Amino acid sequence: MTIRIAPSILSANFAHLASEIKKVEEGGADWLHVDVMDGHFVPNITIGPPVVKSIRQATKLPLDVHLMISDPDKYIPPFIEAGADVLTIHAEAVVHLDRTLDFIRSHNVKVGLAINPATPISAIEHGLGLADMLLIMTVNPGFGGQKFIGYTVDKIRQARQIIETRNLRCLIEVDGGIDLDTLPTVVKAGADILVAGSAIFHAPDPGRKVQEMVELAAPLSYHSKFV
Ligand code: DX5
Ligand code: ZN
Repeated sequence: MTIRIAPSILSANFAHLASEIKKVEEGGADWLHVDVMDGHFVPNITIGPPVVKSIRQATKLPLDVHLMISDPDKYIPPFIEAGADVLTIHAEAVVHLDRTLDFIRSHNVKVGLAINPATPISAIEHGLGLADMLLIMTVNPGFGGQKFIGYTVDKIRQARQIIETRNLRCLIEVDGGIDLDTLPTVVKAGADILVAGSAIFHAPDPGRKVQEMVELAAPLSYHSKFV
C-alpha cells in the first residue's frame, strides 16, 4: 500500500487557510490533519467545530481530526457534524476507552486512537481491534515544530507486529517531527500515514514538499493492509 501524507494545518497561515490547503491538495496530500487543542489536555489552544466546518467546505480531502482535549466524549458529535472523516481521541484523555471508541464508530466515521510518546503500546493493545487507526505521537502533543523523539520508533515496530500477527485492519499514523530526515525511519518501522506540519507549511513550496515526501516514502513502504 502507498504511504499517505496528512499535512497538519497547525503550521499553516490561519489567515489564508483555504489557499494553504489548496497548495497541499495540489501537491498530492491524501488527508488533511486538523489539530484540536483545549489548553487543558495540552498546553495550547487551537480551533473548534466552527473552523472545522469551514475547512470542510474548502476541501474535498478527508479531514483527519486529532482531538488533544480532555473529556473528548462530549465533543465527538459536534466534530463529526462539522465534517470529520477520521476522529482521533487520546487514550490518556478517556476513562473507558472501549466506550469512547465504540461511540465514535456509532457515528459512521473512522475511529482513531492516539497515544503520547511515553504511553506504552501495551496500554492500548486490547483496544486496537476497535480502531481503524493508531496514532503514535512522535513528539509530546501541543505544538508544531518539535524534535522527533527517537524512542517512539520501537513503538511503531511493536504496533506493526501486533497488527500483522493479529491480522487487524488498523493503520498506523505518526505525528510530530516528521520531515525528509525522519520519514525513512518511521516508514520502515511500519507507519502508514505521516502527519507533517512545519516540514510542509514552512517550506517555500508546500505542495512540492508533499510530493517529495510521497516520492521518498513510496519505495520504503512496509507491507500492510488498508481499511
Ligand atoms: C502536535 C500536533 C501535530 C503537529 C505536528 O501536537 O499533533 O499534528 O502539527 O507538527 P510538526 O510536523 O511540525 O511536528
Ligand atoms: Zn496532530
